[in-house]
Amino acid sequence: MAMFTSFHCTSAVFIILCVFLNSVYAAIITYNVVSFGANPNGVIDSTQAFVRAWSAACASTTETVIQVPRGRYLLGSIAFKGDCKSPRITYKIAGTLVAPADYRILGQFENWLSFEGVSGVSIIGGALDAKGPALWACKAAGKDCPNGATALSFTDSSNIRIEGLISLNSQMFHIVINRCQDVHIQGVKIIADGNSPNTDGIHVQLSRNVAIINTSIRTGDDCISIGPGAKNLWIERITCGPGHGISIGSLGKDLNEEGVQNVTVTKSVFSGTQNGLRIKSWARPSKGFVQGVRFIDAIMQDVQNPIVIDQNYCPSNINCPGQTSGVKVSDVLYKNIRGTSATMVAIKLECSAANPCSGIRLEDVKLTYKKKPAQSSCINANGEASGIVQPDSCL
Ligand SMILES: *[C@@H]1O[C@H](CO)[C@@H](O)[C@H](O)[C@H]1NC(C)=O
Ligand SMILES: *[C@@H]1O[C@H](CO)[C@@H](O)[C@H](O)[C@H]1NC(C)=O
Repeated sequence: MAMFTSFHCTSAVFIILCVFLNSVYAAIITYNVVSFGANPNGVIDSTQAFVRAWSAACASTTETVIQVPRGRYLLGSIAFKGDCKSPRITYKIAGTLVAPADYRILGQFENWLSFEGVSGVSIIGGALDAKGPALWACKAAGKDCPNGATALSFTDSSNIRIEGLISLNSQMFHIVINRCQDVHIQGVKIIADGNSPNTDGIHVQLSRNVAIINTSIRTGDDCISIGPGAKNLWIERITCGPGHGISIGSLGKDLNEEGVQNVTVTKSVFSGTQNGLRIKSWARPSKGFVQGVRFIDAIMQDVQNPIVIDQNYCPSNINCPGQTSGVKVSDVLYKNIRGTSATMVAIKLECSAANPCSGIRLEDVKLTYKKKPAQSSCINANGEASGIVQPDSCL
């Protein structure tokens, strides 16, 4: 059932170091889900086998690997819970995890695969096929449908790595990072139809030190959405589209809300998206804020709103007393943002009358509309422009 591996002490030169490493790290134990009864035929339910493999890995006192060989594994909703004795659990996935064909089975849960209260968990490789289209069709037909489940979520966790994973057709959000710290997401691919409802690619909230790198996202809602309490977030080399862009917010729905601080989005490409770089807040009282954002080196290809701050969000004009946002936006840099806008207004900075934006900086921005300079529009936005800024800055 378990395969035992260790550091191989073959080189005389390193033998002392090697013996030392083996004593520190003991060994890595590999658990293969098939040994726990998982069936790679995609038809027989493997949920309990995955639960048992997790329990064994979690209870191990050494570093562990949970191996998922090639094949398709039918899984219902699973919560992989800590605290674990194992200091490090790595899922090495060669196969595809498949949701039940009947969307109501997952649809009644908030999450399909969730990790709660874990530390040192990595997911390397693999694919998730959440079978979302049937639920999207139900929603499009205006029938009585469940909300749907997030495909993969991490809550109250630390030291997390997701690398080389493909997430296909989630019912709702693809990946959610909630109340976590030290999370590294790299080389992930997210794929869903451009018209699929609420299929945000990666949502981060109430979390610190999260990096999302070299990730391609094609989906029906925000490629990356950033909620309250996101701090020290690094986003690099994202390709986004179709989708609604990278969005800080919606924020400020609640009066007492944590702020968003220190966010960098760099070297990213947006193709045919609804928005590029967006900050969005409800026109409601709130103690929330956005402080210290750097949007650097972005290419826009036919993006409807390449640069947008919208603090007037109030769908159907309901529950927005006073119609101004309490969210204070400050210290936001847009640097080296180039490409084409699909609408005339390429830069739209519409800030709160109660809390004007401050410290907005536009530096080397060149956005065109139909091969001509586009337009910009500012309301309650303060800051400065430098370098070449086209359309002309309205700051
Ligand atoms: C980026 O991620 C893709 C998978 O999406 C991978 O094939 C490629 O090697 C990665 N590139 C770098 C430089 O990490
Ligand atoms: C801002 O976040 C980055 C990671 O994105 C981190 O390296 C840096 O130290 C943070 N800065 C502050 C002042 O916390």
